[in-house]
Amino acid sequence: MQKVRKAVIPAAGFGTRFLPETKAMPKEMLPLVDKPTIQYIVEEILDSGIEEILIISGHAKRAIEDHFDSSPELEQHLLKQGKLEQLKQIRKISDVKIHYTRQAYQRGLGDAILCAKDFIDGEPFGVILGDDVVYTGTEEPALKQLMDQYDKTGETVIGCQVVAPEKVSAYGIIDGKPTGDENLLRVKDMVEKPKLSEAPSRFAALGRYVITPEVFEILEETRPGKGGEIQLTDALRVMAHQGNVYAYNFQGKRYDTGDKLGYLKAVVEFALRRDDLGPAFREYLRELSNIQL
Ligand code: G1P
Repeated sequence: MQKVRKAVIPAAGFGTRFLPETKAMPKEMLPLVDKPTIQYIVEEILDSGIEEILIISGHAKRAIEDHFDSSPELEQHLLKQGKLEQLKQIRKISDVKIHYTRQAYQRGLGDAILCAKDFIDGEPFGVILGDDVVYTGTEEPALKQLMDQYDKTGETVIGCQVVAPEKVSAYGIIDGKPTGDENLLRVKDMVEKPKLSEAPSRFAALGRYVITPEVFEILEETRPGKGGEIQLTDALRVMAHQGNVYAYNFQGKRYDTGDKLGYLKAVVEFALRRDDLGPAFREYLRELSNIQL
């Protein structure tokens, strides 16, 4: 069985939920305190032991490439000023080897993944969506948790958690049956963004997948589905019907940073966890809770 050595980050969406901020700036560059969300995603991939990364980019995404590019002038400046800690951080970002390809038209997540076919070249691969940041603290990164399940099963694994009833219609929802492991289900079926009344469960795909390469042939045949887009969920469904897909309840706190409230929660919680900002920020929030705004 092949190891997972490659990962794909689809980042070609327009980010309409964050307009006007995202008119010229990719939503993946929105910072959680001082680091863009896509850097958290890249770090999760690296911490999972994967070094080959493909970003599927699109319209107005140059800032992402610039962010991961080397910046000799900035490095020189930091060196001269003796800001060695910052220099180290900046160099670490540009040391990562990232490949890029462009999705020409916004035809949906399934079509974005199809753009990775040549790069993946017949291997199993990880996918993390740019909107879904997961905090795992000292636990294993969420993607690594899925890779461990892949190593056990040899099949596609979808990272899932239970979501609130009112959120069901925002996600791909799993119809699964138990395996011996309470956190692992075999997927019988899957439906993209169902109404609550039609949802088979509240177990939702939350932006992390390990996928076997058969998906590409299926995606090539997949017609537009929900919202007129080519949906990854529809291709995974076909694989699930063949009995080849698992859903894993990963550990970690997940933030929907593509949603305004989700984004604000992520910024506040990431700031509170920091040694340099946490204590003063916590104090400020206490004061704020006594003020009528
Ligand atoms: C995509 C997927 C959906 C998944 C979600 C996770 O939807 O199509 O199945 O549950 O990501 O964030 P999107 O949020 O891109 O519309």
